Amino acid sequence: MSQDSGAPDNLHQSVLVSEVLEWLRPCAGKVYIDGTVGLGGHAARILESSAPDGRLIGFDKDEEALSEAHRVLSRFGERAMLIHDDFKNIPLYREAMGGKKAHGILLDLGVSSLQLNKAERGFSFLRQGPLDMRMDRRSALTAKEIVNRFPPERLLEILWTFGEERFARRIVSRIVEARSKKPIESTGELEAIVRKAVPARIRAGRRIHPATRTFQALRIAANGEMTSLAAFLTEAPDLLEEEGRLAILSFHSLEDRAVKMAFRELRRQKAGRVLTPKPLSPSPEETGSNPRSRSAKLRVFEKMSEGGGAA
Ligand SMILES: C[S@@+](CC[C@H](N)C(=O)[O-])C[C@H]1O[C@@H](n2cnc3c(N)ncnc32)[C@H](O)[C@@H]1O
Repeated sequence: MSQDSGAPDNLHQSVLVSEVLEWLRPCAGKVYIDGTVGLGGHAARILESSAPDGRLIGFDKDEEALSEAHRVLSRFGERAMLIHDDFKNIPLYREAMGGKKAHGILLDLGVSSLQLNKAERGFSFLRQGPLDMRMDRRSALTAKEIVNRFPPERLLEILWTFGEERFARRIVSRIVEARSKKPIESTGELEAIVRKAVPARIRAGRRIHPATRTFQALRIAANGEMTSLAAFLTEAPDLLEEEGRLAILSFHSLEDRAVKMAFRELRRQKAGRVLTPKPLSPSPEETGSNPRSRSAKLRVFEKMSEGGGAA
């Protein structure tokens, strides 16, 4: 996704909200899971639509996001429960769901504007900060650790796989050269190294900043994002009740491909049906007012009903 959040510091504009509600169809008496509760934007709308007694269990691995979600969702009282954990661990919290399965699950992947806009979190090449990028600050692995300590071949693999960066080799060689003189400590230092590694004529022609793909790749690696998504996707059907729906918003092709393949495999196993043969994208109005939404893709899966009715 672009680093342009389009929102002032503390504000995160939720993406494809009406579409998420339309597909998840929240209603009273049901349980919902928001695996990436963030600042509580989607969660609040799900709780409003499932009044008076729908419940939502929200997960986030970022403590700062969760405390904002607590504030935003406090008006729903005990209908909202928030848990500081990775969504790959949702199956461990079945008891918190009172043994019930979910009528709807939402994942809105990636980072929030709160994370991007805070220089000290180190997510953005547009802001000078420490090379951190951890969503969960209890984790030991920072982007700084990856950039300064990982062997070149591992760095190369990260940039190729998670960033699909065609200049990965040049960038890694500049990183290795720079770190042999002194550790690379800040977002600004890394941004300058990457910028200089990309040939000038390509830099001029690129629609995105030359450091976009490198920063995306390091963020995905530092947070184990693809591993969490893969683990969640294998468990998700079991968390849903019959005819329950799973909606996933992704922001880059790697995530979208993983979701598409997992949904296809579930359909092949006759576990349910894919409700979005083509992913939904935001309208020009939405991308105009919220640049972060530009790369969003929404895919929805519905679990089979008893007797295989949904497939
Ligand atoms: C795009 S924001 C969600 C915004 C939210 N839907 C809203 O409307 O306010 C993504 C959030 O997911 C969290 N996140 C990303 N990967 C996660 C994971 N594996 N487990 C738990 N939270 C995760 C991030 O910390 C971030 O707060």
